[in-house]
Amino acid sequence: MSVTVRVPAKVNVQLGVGAARPDGFHPLATVFLAVSLFDEVTATPAAALTVTCEGPDADQVPLDRTNLAARAAEVLAARAGIEPAVHLHIAKNIPVAGGMAGGSADGAAALLACDTLWGLDTPRTELLDLCAELGSDVPFSLLGGAALGTGRGELLTPVDAGSFHWVFAVADGGLSTPAVFRAFDRLTAGTTVPEPQPSPELLAALASGDPDRLAPALSNGLQAASLSLRPALADTFAAGTGAGALAALVSGSGPTTAFLVRDEEGAAKVAAALEASGTCRTTRTASGPVPGATVLRG
Ligand code: C5P
Repeated sequence: MSVTVRVPAKVNVQLGVGAARPDGFHPLATVFLAVSLFDEVTATPAAALTVTCEGPDADQVPLDRTNLAARAAEVLAARAGIEPAVHLHIAKNIPVAGGMAGGSADGAAALLACDTLWGLDTPRTELLDLCAELGSDVPFSLLGGAALGTGRGELLTPVDAGSFHWVFAVADGGLSTPAVFRAFDRLTAGTTVPEPQPSPELLAALASGDPDRLAPALSNGLQAASLSLRPALADTFAAGTGAGALAALVSGSGPTTAFLVRDEEGAAKVAAALEASGTCRTTRTASGPVPGATVLRG
């Protein structure tokens, strides 16, 4: 018997970042959008907690207790007073260390898969609390759709969103999220960083479903920090917008770049141009919003 959960990647269509709090985290006003790039996590009873991973970038995924899927199984088992006797297999399609919450997605998926496998029926609000313990982006991976995130990103309010098409350019090598936040601190040192606020223009554009309206409203407060660590991303931006993308932005802390396009045809054209440009390792096309972590088989 095993349980498989499918879980989406995310892009932040707004990422407002404030000055670091005393605990080191940065206050956020962010709008998450779940997009149709998915990992699948399968939980199977086993003698002890083990993790395996398959997919094009599987060699970059840690299989020890630092993997958020393993930590999810541990925190859920501890809460239930049982052993985390489970094998977790991750079928990975979300770019690794790319700013698309791939690790967080696996954490949320493992939590739901183990909860189902062990018949715990943990209330949704408690699952969301456990997700927040695992990491700032993990609650959104469980929730999916489109949502405003405040606090350090873990406090969620669902928002309305039409459907949008995207191309993602996957860079060579990942970026560490803490390193990007540290670069943000360096770039903003000596300045007054305002409290981040949700953008009414962005929220209205998202609800309208009109990509021409969404394009100028997209923003990412970590983008300058991400570009300072990877200046070559500017070439990726130019390649995508030169091929007709309506807008380009770094996805989360990067280095994946997200290109908003009007439709599937536009997506294919921008993806082909990006691949031909040599400014990224590979591309993925996707649309969103899509649902959060979902049990497929169990
Ligand atoms: O919450 P999570 O473990 O995913 O965060 C990883 C790191 O990213 C944190 O240790 C912190 O350095 C940084 N971070 C931050 N502010 C946030 C979210 C993450 O500084 N709101």
